[in-house]
Amino acid sequence: MTPAITTTVQALQWTGTHLAVLDQRLLPEQLIYNNYNDAIGVTDAITTMQVRGAPAIGIAATYGVALAVIQRHQQNPKQWQQKVAEDIALLASSRPTAVNLFWALAQMTALLAQPLSDPITATITLAKKIHSDDIAANKAMGELGADLLTGAKGVMTHCNAGALATGGYGTALGVIRSICQRQAINIYMGETRPWLQGARLTAWELAQEGIPATLIADSAAAWLMKSGAIEWIVVGADRITARGDVANKIGTYSLAVLAKQYGVKLMVVAPTSTIDWSIEKGDEIDIEQRPDHELLSSYYQHEGSLINAWNPVFDVTPAELITAIVTERGVVMNPTLLGLQGIKNETF
Ligand code: MRU
Repeated sequence: MTPAITTTVQALQWTGTHLAVLDQRLLPEQLIYNNYNDAIGVTDAITTMQVRGAPAIGIAATYGVALAVIQRHQQNPKQWQQKVAEDIALLASSRPTAVNLFWALAQMTALLAQPLSDPITATITLAKKIHSDDIAANKAMGELGADLLTGAKGVMTHCNAGALATGGYGTALGVIRSICQRQAINIYMGETRPWLQGARLTAWELAQEGIPATLIADSAAAWLMKSGAIEWIVVGADRITARGDVANKIGTYSLAVLAKQYGVKLMVVAPTSTIDWSIEKGDEIDIEQRPDHELLSSYYQHEGSLINAWNPVFDVTPAELITAIVTERGVVMNPTLLGLQGIKNETF
C-alpha cells in the first residue's frame, strides 16, 4: 500500500511569540519541545544539537533574529540595532559547517539594513517565508530525485536529511518519501555514529510515515553494496562548493568511495541555500570538530587518560564521486563548476 505523504514531523514551530524547538537529542523515546524567546536560547539549541540539519539550523537562526528584534526593540525602541547585530554574530557562532546558517543570517541582515517602519513584523514575515520556501524546495526536489530513482530496487541514506533536518518534508528523505509514492523500494539507513541520526531520527521519521526501512551498522555499508541490494545512495549536504564538492555528515565520503568501487550511484539532495558560491574547493570548508566526550566512552574521560578522540562531524566528498546534485532549481549530473553555474541565480 502506498503510504500517505504528510509533513507531520515539525522540528520548529513559530508560535507568534516564541520558537518551539523539538529536542532531537531525546528522540525517539521522548517528544519534547523547548521554547525559546531570545537569540541566546536559539544559539544554544543549535550548538547543543536540539535542532540540527543544515536547512533547519538556518531556519532556526532566522527565527532567532526575529526574537532578537522583538526583545531588543522592546528593551530600547530607539537603539536596538547594535544589540541585534551582536545577537546575529552570536547565532553565527553556533556551528561552523552548514552554510545555510550564514545564508539565512545574511538574508536577515540585508532586510534589517533597509529602513523598516515595522521591523518586528518584517523580520517575522521573512523568517516565515524562508521556512515555507524550504518546504516548497524540498517537495520540488523530492519529485526530481524520485525521477532518478525510478526502477531502483534499493536505496541507502545516511544521517538524517528528513523533515527533522529541514523546514519540513526533507531533502534526501524527501526524495525517498516521493519515490515511495510511486513504487516499492527497499530503504536502508546507516546508524550514523556517534549521534545516531540514522538509527534514531531517520528510523523514527520513516516509522511515523508508515514507510518500512532497514537499519545497518555504518560498518556494514561495503557489504551491503557488494550484495547488490542498492543502486543508489541518497544524502543531504551541509555545504556544496561552486564546483560541487559536498560537505556532509562524517561517513558520507566513505560511502562515496565504496559506491565507486561497487558501481552504486550517489545522489546529493540540497536546496540552493546550501551552495556556497564563494568557494570552489571542498578543502576550504570549515569542518566542525565536536568535543571528545561525544565520542569517547566515559571510562576514558578522566584526568590523565591516555585515550582522546578525533571527532570531525562532517567530511567532504569530491564532485568526481557524485552522480547527481538535486536542487529545487534542477538536477546537475556529474557536477562541475560549469554544470553548477547553470542553476546559479544571480540574485543570491
Ligand atoms: O550534525 P548534523 O546532524 O547537523 O548533520 C546533519 C547532516 O549532515 C545532514 O545530512 C545535512 O545537514 C543535510 S540535512 C537536510
